[in-house]
Amino acid sequence: MSKKSQIVIISNRLPVARVRRGGSSEWRTSPGGLVSALTPILSKRPSRWIGWAGTSGSAPEPFEHEGILNHPVRLSREEMETYYEGFCNRTLWPLYHDAVRTPEYRRRWWRPYVEVNRRFAEAAADTVAKRGTVWVHDYHLQLVPAMIRELRPDVRIGFFLHIPFPPQELFAQLPWRQPILAGLLGADVVGFQTRGGAQNFSRLCRRYVAAEGTREELHYEGRTILPGAYPVSIDVERFEQLAKTESVRRRTEEFRKRLGADRKIILGVDRMDYTKGIDIRLHAYRGLLRTERTTLEESVLVQVAVPSRERVEQYGELRAHVEQLVGEINGEFGELGRTPIHYLHRSLPTEELVALYRAADVMLVTPLRDGMNLVAKEYVASRDDTGVLVLSEFTGSAKELHSALLVNPHDIDGLEAALHTALHMPPGEQEDRMKSLHRALRRNDVFHWANRFLDALKV
Ligand code: G6P
Repeated sequence: MSKKSQIVIISNRLPVARVRRGGSSEWRTSPGGLVSALTPILSKRPSRWIGWAGTSGSAPEPFEHEGILNHPVRLSREEMETYYEGFCNRTLWPLYHDAVRTPEYRRRWWRPYVEVNRRFAEAAADTVAKRGTVWVHDYHLQLVPAMIRELRPDVRIGFFLHIPFPPQELFAQLPWRQPILAGLLGADVVGFQTRGGAQNFSRLCRRYVAAEGTREELHYEGRTILPGAYPVSIDVERFEQLAKTESVRRRTEEFRKRLGADRKIILGVDRMDYTKGIDIRLHAYRGLLRTERTTLEESVLVQVAVPSRERVEQYGELRAHVEQLVGEINGEFGELGRTPIHYLHRSLPTEELVALYRAADVMLVTPLRDGMNLVAKEYVASRDDTGVLVLSEFTGSAKELHSALLVNPHDIDGLEAALHTALHMPPGEQEDRMKSLHRALRRNDVFHWANRFLDALKV
């Protein structure tokens, strides 16, 4: 394992997770576009992926899995609480998502954030080849670029933020705003999901760390830094192919039959996160049922909520709230053998999801704020020429998927109206919109995204 890597990817989580199988356990590649986008790039030259293996305590030795060299970093139990659950998910996550929950600024979480960032940076500095490239991902590791630069000034460093980057009015609250900006400025290229994110970053750097320049080019401590928008995407072809398989086709039919062949299926698929607006869409659906703009015979809502960050208080509260709402609505409008909402609190294999996308007449994506939202893109890629995407204008995806029915999730009346429109949209309009959504998606798949970023880094 002493061989140095020309490309090093760093993210909080490794792209694999340990899963139990019978009496033993094995590594399995986690679903998601990032791994598939990077695999062709990583397999062409010596490379490694540095990240946390998902459990506390000592880290396993580096190991190869499906062509990628995984390099685990350890996190202690206490660091899981302070760095991961605390600073990452109770400070940064809500702050960067428009403070839809109040961010908590606890001084005792900051030190572990710095220490864990240093551990990742050292692992990269020790293993990257001379004049190699390091690509750092997401809000957990914003100090890493400057730390690597200090240890290894010879390497190219890229940083990509998967979540929104907030405007000054919010970011300015952060007691550690200056070191975070200086940390990010250690990179050569700093990528965001939208132009707005890049703009916010440039402004803040000029305001708080005396960088100079524009949204496209900053100057700081004698170096040039390129902020930019690199909207992330999915492996479009993989979804298109999966959607055509016989097993998915059969499963789609089965779902339709089980839910009621004559009913319109409305679908939501999200991590159970308060940024996703799951409760809001339930309210909107209840509104339609109450005013009889839809009925139990006409439609059914399927909500898949993938368990997430369950040890963080706000997530437990959200789950209780969502489950209470589902219970109330089913209690009020359900009949024996037929309920308005089917709710699954678990993750589903990609094939099952694609079958659900195929079955769904309407896809409801209603986050209050979302860096991108890949579920919206997966729905489009899985469809032929019908189906309606209802999409929050506060997602990064809305910047590309203009032909969706765009909604303001804070406006429940508006959301009810959009859902009603979606349920009754004539096939001709569905086709026009879906064609244009397909075109938008084909312009930027995840391979295009990765190549654009690495081109900017001149890899
Ligand atoms: C978001 C973040 C990712 C994160 C994922 C799941 O998509 O941008 O970095 O991995 O949520 O959250 P978790 O806390 O389970 O890693």
